[in-house]
Amino acid sequence: MASLHLPPLRSASGCVRLPGSKSISNRMLLLAALAQGATEIRDLLDSDDTRVMLAALQKVGVGVTALGGGAWRVQGCGGVFPVKDAELFMGNAGTAIRPLTAALALSGGHYRLSGVPRMHERPIGDLVDGLLQIGADVRYAGNPGFPPLTIHPAIVKLAAPIRLRGDVSSQFLTALLMALPLSGVEAVIEMTTELISRPYVEITLNLMARFGVKVEREGWQRFTIAAGQGYRSPGLLHVEGDASAASYFLAAGAIGGGPVRVEGVGRDSIQGDVRFAEALAAMGARIEWGAQHIEARAPVSGKLKAFDLDLNHIPDAAMTLAVAALFADGRCLLRNIGSWRVKETDRIAAMATELRKLGAIVEEGADWLAVTCPRSGIPGTQSGAAPTLVPNCAIDTYDDHRIAMCFSLAALGGVPLTINDPACVNKTFPDYFDAFAEITAPVIAIDGPSASGKGTVAERVAAALGYHYLDSGSLYRLTALAALRADLALDDETGVAALAAGLPASFSGGRILLADDDVTDAIRTEEISAGASKVAALPAVRAALLARQRAYRRFPGLVADGRDMGSVVFPTAGAKLFLTASAEARAERRYKQLIAKGMPANMHALLQDLQERDARDAQRSVAPLRHCDDADLVDTTEMNIEAAVAAVMSIVQRSPL
Ligand code: DC
Repeated sequence: MASLHLPPLRSASGCVRLPGSKSISNRMLLLAALAQGATEIRDLLDSDDTRVMLAALQKVGVGVTALGGGAWRVQGCGGVFPVKDAELFMGNAGTAIRPLTAALALSGGHYRLSGVPRMHERPIGDLVDGLLQIGADVRYAGNPGFPPLTIHPAIVKLAAPIRLRGDVSSQFLTALLMALPLSGVEAVIEMTTELISRPYVEITLNLMARFGVKVEREGWQRFTIAAGQGYRSPGLLHVEGDASAASYFLAAGAIGGGPVRVEGVGRDSIQGDVRFAEALAAMGARIEWGAQHIEARAPVSGKLKAFDLDLNHIPDAAMTLAVAALFADGRCLLRNIGSWRVKETDRIAAMATELRKLGAIVEEGADWLAVTCPRSGIPGTQSGAAPTLVPNCAIDTYDDHRIAMCFSLAALGGVPLTINDPACVNKTFPDYFDAFAEITAPVIAIDGPSASGKGTVAERVAAALGYHYLDSGSLYRLTALAALRADLALDDETGVAALAAGLPASFSGGRILLADDDVTDAIRTEEISAGASKVAALPAVRAALLARQRAYRRFPGLVADGRDMGSVVFPTAGAKLFLTASAEARAERRYKQLIAKGMPANMHALLQDLQERDARDAQRSVAPLRHCDDADLVDTTEMNIEAAVAAVMSIVQRSPL
């Protein structure tokens, strides 16, 4: 896809399960490869940068096996890579090329490391200087100071401390720290400059400790690895959710009302980027911390405050703040972010250019950025006065995943926006835009009893708006059909819920498929209607179908129909309607439908059946059918379909979608 069009967005709420952390995934992979023994790593990030690391490890002879479900088994090589001669392509993955260069330089083989053109513009000279001081043979195959590199066998001597710069990238220190235990002798690193991005070094030290290697640290100046330490597999490890990725959703919650909850990182996280939440709090956002989650809402006042912050400790998440600055009430100053200049692109220049397209006033310096957004003063977004953003901007992304992700937030200013080359998010978060849509895409929830006309009305409203359509009842019907076909009793809650969780259902061109079987008509029989009502009363079945229903929330928007769309599945829907009609009118509609299809029908039996089903749907303990206070009532007893659609459209048009 060359570009992605985002519709104007006005609110954000919901819950996101984060993908695994890139920083932790790539460090764990390398440490597991260098260790004695096998390591199972769960929840590993699946993205371009981790694939680069996995492919490189395989090429140098490390056994890595996918176990399914994000779990991998790495057979450690005890510090000796079996393959002694290899060409390695590192893409644009800084977290792969830097530590691998150091580890390979100490492992006595011939290797060549290269990457995409931008990788050949990203500095690595400080690391190479550090390695040369201990006698490693690392050479520039292109421009001095930059990849590509060649590595050759050499006798490494660790007599004196290694003197290393830390003001360009903390990854050089990380790379040396991870590789030096391979020498078996005492190693000392002394920093010759200030060390930037320190929380990333803390991740390194934390993970090295889990593999049995302790580093003595004197401030951020001097690091000592005592002799005789080697990596040993801890057996099983879990990768935390990505705290940098969390920043987009938390910012969305702060800008678009919230609450938005991210799951997978929290107060126990070892990633420095969780402190992004503190920066949002400084802007007035309401933040709630759990051990494994963080939740963000807009300030009570509705207005985000301007800020002046040193962001050296959260360089990646700081980009998200630069876009959040569009929604603040004044000039926002981002200080001490010089490392932006040598990342995937020159991020200071790129952010300035793209923010200006949106109408912001941007000032930039060697290591700072200031953002001021003109404001209309008209209440628009949930965070108060709307910024006056230029609509229909095309944001360029410079092959930088973080630019694509953070600029999606600008659509919350209520302007349509285009993101060019959105696939660059594959570097760290291939499903980013789906996850973003799940908390921001407009939703129209239409609840009501059976035969109230809500299915037909919802489908027509969706077509008129160009929105997606979710017929949630069909998921319960499909579950009942699948259960009957599998000879499961319909009150076998655990069995039916397991089936619902893995339902091989798909919807295409108006047809409904169960695996490859077209069951469009089979799920409409009276037997399945009664069965659906029974399985729908089981709490575990409802829970199993919840995430699946929420995944239908996509751009440009969703019309969802069912019993609990507004009350449970999409409680923050921008428009909520309750469509109903008298039982007699609904029984008559069903009667006419059946007769039209040439099927036998009995008015009295239909009415009785409908009343029984209404009672069951309304009385069940979970998600009972009810007219919520915040839903607009549409009684269709006296309306035909056209009149019902018109009534719904007029409510939708005055709703804050
Ligand atoms: O709307 P429908 O008749 O196709 O729904 C089939 C059954 O599923 C019905 O008994 C109610 C139940 N259902 C539910 O409990 N919650 C929903 N969101 C949708 C349907």
